[in-house]
Amino acid sequence: MPQVLSHRQLSDIAATFGTPVYIYHAERITEQYNLLKDAFRNVDTTFFYACKALTNINILKHIKSIGCNVDCSSVNEVQLALMAGFPPEKILYTSNNISFAEIETAKELGVHINIDSLSNLEKFGKKYGHSYPIGIRLRPNIMAGGNLKISTGHDKSKFGIPLEDINKVLGLMKDTNLNIRTLHIHTGSEIKDVEVFAKGIEVLFGLVHHFPDLKVIDLGGGLKVPYMPGEMGTDIRALGAKVAEEFIGFEKSTGRKLEIWFEPGKFMVSEAGYLVTSVNVIKQSGDIRFAGVDSGLNHLIRPMFYGAYHHIENISNSDGKMLTYNVVGNICETDTFADNRLISEIREGDYLVFYNAGAYGMEMASNYNSRFKPAEVLVKNNTSVLIRRRETLQDILHTQILAAD
Ligand SMILES: Cc1ncc(COP(=O)(O)O)c(C=O)c1O
Repeated sequence: MPQVLSHRQLSDIAATFGTPVYIYHAERITEQYNLLKDAFRNVDTTFFYACKALTNINILKHIKSIGCNVDCSSVNEVQLALMAGFPPEKILYTSNNISFAEIETAKELGVHINIDSLSNLEKFGKKYGHSYPIGIRLRPNIMAGGNLKISTGHDKSKFGIPLEDINKVLGLMKDTNLNIRTLHIHTGSEIKDVEVFAKGIEVLFGLVHHFPDLKVIDLGGGLKVPYMPGEMGTDIRALGAKVAEEFIGFEKSTGRKLEIWFEPGKFMVSEAGYLVTSVNVIKQSGDIRFAGVDSGLNHLIRPMFYGAYHHIENISNSDGKMLTYNVVGNICETDTFADNRLISEIREGDYLVFYNAGAYGMEMASNYNSRFKPAEVLVKNNTSVLIRRRETLQDILHTQILAAD
C-alpha cells in the first residue's frame, strides 16, 4: 500500500498553518523513486527528477538526499538545483525555444544539455565544436499523452527537432564536429501505454548508427500516475522489463551499450502532494450546489487548463451523507475544480483536500486577482515543517516600482 497522509494529519496541518496550504509527504516521494529503481534494476538507468513539477528547494534537497538526479527546464531551475546541492554532473537541462545565451550559461555551469533546435545546435557546434558533449531533443512524431496540451512528440508539436530534419543534424555534426552524446525524446505526459515508450526506443535505435559518440538514450518523462480512484498508472514493472529487453537485445545485436535516462516529474511528486482548502460559501442555485473554497485557478490551474481530474474529499465530515457538488474557486473567472462531484456533505468552514497536488500545482500558481499563493508544508519523519510562508501584500508589491507622478 502506498504511504498516505490521513485526514487527521491533513486537518491538523491545516489548523496549524492555515489554508490554502500545499502539503508534501517526503517518504511518499522516496517510495516512488524506489519503485523506479527496482523496476529498472536490470538495466543501466539513471533518473532525473523533472523539477518543473515542483521546485521548492526543500523538495530538491530531499530528491538529492535519496540519490536521484534532476532535470531542469530553465537556467533558473539549474541554479536552484545547484543551490540545493546537486553537482553539475547530476543536473540535466532540457531546453525548448530558448536563447543561445541561456544555453551558454548552462554550459558555463557544466551541466548536461539537451538542445532542441537546429539554430542553437549550429551555434553550439560553431562555438564549442567537439569540446562539450551535448544531447539533441528530437520530435519523434508520436502522438501520446493524456490530452493534446500535454502531448509533445507529435508532428505538429513545437518541441524538439523534427525527425524529418535528421540529415540537417548530421550535416551540422559533420561541419562543426559536434559531440552528440545523447538522443532525447519526451513524447508527452500521462502515458499509460508501455508500447508508446517501446515505439520511441525503436525510433531512436534506428538513428544510433549515425552517431559515433552516442552514449545515452534519454526517454524523457511522462509516466502516468492514477488520479481517479481505481484508475491505473503506467505499469512500471512492465516498462522496466520492456526497456531491459530492448536495450539488452540492442547491445547483443550491435555491440553498443547505451545508458538509459528518464525524466519523471509527476511520477515522483504528484501523489505526494495535497492541497487543503477551506470552504467559504455554500450556494444553492436551482439543482446545483456550489461549494466555494478559499482557492482557485491561481493555486491549482490544472482542472481549468487541461481538464485535469483531482479527487476531492471533505476531511472535516468524512462520514457525512454523500451529495453532489460543484466545487469552485474564489477567482473572478469560472474556476471550476469539479462538476457534479459526489462528496460527503460540505458545510461552510470545512476543509476540502485535493489529491495529486504535488506536480504542477504550486509550481503553476500565480497572484491573479492579487491573491496570495498558498503556504507549503513538508511532512518528513512524521514532522510537519513550513517550507514556504504565506504571502503578504508586501510580497505582491515587492518588485513593483512606484513611478513618479
Ligand atoms: C522534457 C521533459 N521532461 C520531463 C517532463 C516531465 O513530465 P512528467 O511530469 O509527465 O513526467 C516534461 C514535462 O513537461 C518535459 O517537458
